Formats: sequence, structure tokens, C-alpha cells
Amino acid sequence: MNVGPQRTHTDTPAPPPQILSARGVVKTYRSGAHEVSALRGIDLDVQVGELVTVMGPSGNGKTTLLNCLSGLDDIDAGTVTVDGADLFAMSDAKRTRHRATRMGFVFQAFNLIPVLSAAENVELPLLVTGVAPKAARKRAHDVLGRVGLGDRADHRPGELSGGERQRVTVARALVGEPALIWADEPTGALDSRTAGDIIELLLEVHAAGQTLVIVTHDEGLGRSGQRLVQVRDGRIVHDGDPRTAPAASELAPAAAASVEVAS
Ligand SMILES: Nc1ncnc2c1ncn2[C@@H]1O[C@H](COP(=O)(O)OP(=O)(O)OP(=O)(O)O)[C@@H](O)[C@H]1O
Ligand SMILES: [Mg+2]
Repeated sequence: MNVGPQRTHTDTPAPPPQILSARGVVKTYRSGAHEVSALRGIDLDVQVGELVTVMGPSGNGKTTLLNCLSGLDDIDAGTVTVDGADLFAMSDAKRTRHRATRMGFVFQAFNLIPVLSAAENVELPLLVTGVAPKAARKRAHDVLGRVGLGDRADHRPGELSGGERQRVTVARALVGEPALIWADEPTGALDSRTAGDIIELLLEVHAAGQTLVIVTHDEGLGRSGQRLVQVRDGRIVHDGDPRTAPAASELAPAAAASVEVAS
């Protein structure tokens, strides 16, 4: 028997537990004679297992930050690496696939499909990435059970309460076991009690080891993580302990500057 030195895990340095790295991200919207500098140089790193909340006044670039750092939208300058892959160095098709397999989304724009049951809505992202229908259905049922909707799998969105519908979107984001989940105002359309349930669910998902970046106007959710990023006028003005973050009232509501461009 060979008792010589064997390769161990310590031979190869462990990759840094980093899921997201953004550097110098700039995004300018151009429509007609106007330019809006929505992101003016964003640097952001997120480690595996972190819960990062993003807050800031309306119109200051939070949704744009999520869209650009997830590769849903193009950027004008900078780099974004998610789970080891440079998003904007790959083809659109590859980026779409990377997003579908490595990221989950809880966005209001990504509504549930009304004619599909909860289970069918949840399994859809798996079917798109080629998972066999039977396995996809089983995973959809498992994850619906996890969000407390095991007995609602056959209901269509119209047969669910607002909070239950939002649970289905969380299940849909979780089903592919993504490296990173992005949420944009996941409690925005909910009453305060239902919002509280969704916050609890997201905190449970985080406690189970999931990495999450959540944009929210909800002070309770925004300050419940270990790390709060505050965005103002397309820049990150605070990144750290929520307890030392400036109060929302100290961030005067300044909309991103819109400048007239000579045509
Ligand atoms: N598709 C677009 N075309 C042109 N301008 C846009 C577009 N999307 C957003 N903007 C502008 O970019 C700026 C940032 O918008 P963004 O949606 O990122 O704000 P936000 O911080 O998410 O606001 P809210 O809290 O209201 O959701 C705003 O001034 C907005 O008007
Ligand atoms: Mg927004």
C-alpha cells in the first residue's frame, strides 16, 4: 500500500469565499435629449453567506444597481464577477445561462404566470435549464414545503393571498439552489403583517446559508442584516454595520441628476 505523501485539500489554496465582486460600475440611461447618471462608480464585494441590504431614497439607483450587478442590464463601464465568472466578458447567451443557473430573483417585475399553478411556476426555471420534468416537479414541491406552502402547490396565483404569492416567488428564486439571490423590495406591495412574515422567511433562508442582496425601503428589514449598503445619487455612501448607518432622514431625497444633452 502506498503510504507516501498524498495530496490534501491544503495543497490548493481555497478560493476566496466571494460570490460577487463589482468594480467601477457606471450606468447612464440615455433617452432622447436626457442622460441620467444612475450609477456613478459602484464597488461592491459580497462574500458567501452574507445578507446585504441596500437602502436609499427613491430614484437614487438601487434597482439599477441590482439590474446591472446581476447582468440583467448592460453597463457602461466597470466589471462584475459573479460566482467566478466575469458577466460582461461573456456572450449574452452565456450570461443568460449563468444568471439562470447561479442567481435567483425576487423582483416585482418577474410576476408569477397566472395560468400556472404554484408548483408549475416554481419548476419553470428548472425546466428552462434542462432539468427533467419529474425531478423539477419534486424539487418544486420540496421548496414550496420549505416556504410553508406544501398544501398550496396546485393553487394558481389568483387563488393565493398576496403574502402566499410572494412566498411562491421566494420558492421560485430558491429552487435552482442559486449561489446568490437578488430581491428588489420583496415586501413593497404587502401589508405590514404579511411583510413581517416575508422578512422572517428571508431571514430563515439566510440562516440556512443562502447569500442574499435585498433592496428595501423597510427600515426593519434593512437594519436586520449584518451589513447595510446605502445608495445615494448613484454612489454607495455607507457600507457596513446597520447600527452606524445614517438614518434615512439624513439622506436627503436627491434624485439622480438628469442632464440635458446637446443634440
Ligand atoms: N430604463 C430607464 N431609462 C431611463 N432612466 C431610467 C431608467 N430606469 C431608471 N431610470 C432613472 O435612473 C434613476 C435610478 O432609478 P432606479 O430605478 O435605480 O431607482 P431606485 O433607487 O430603485 O428607486 P425606487 O426606490 O423608487 O425604486 C432614476 O432617476 C430613474 O428615473
Ligand atoms: Mg427601485
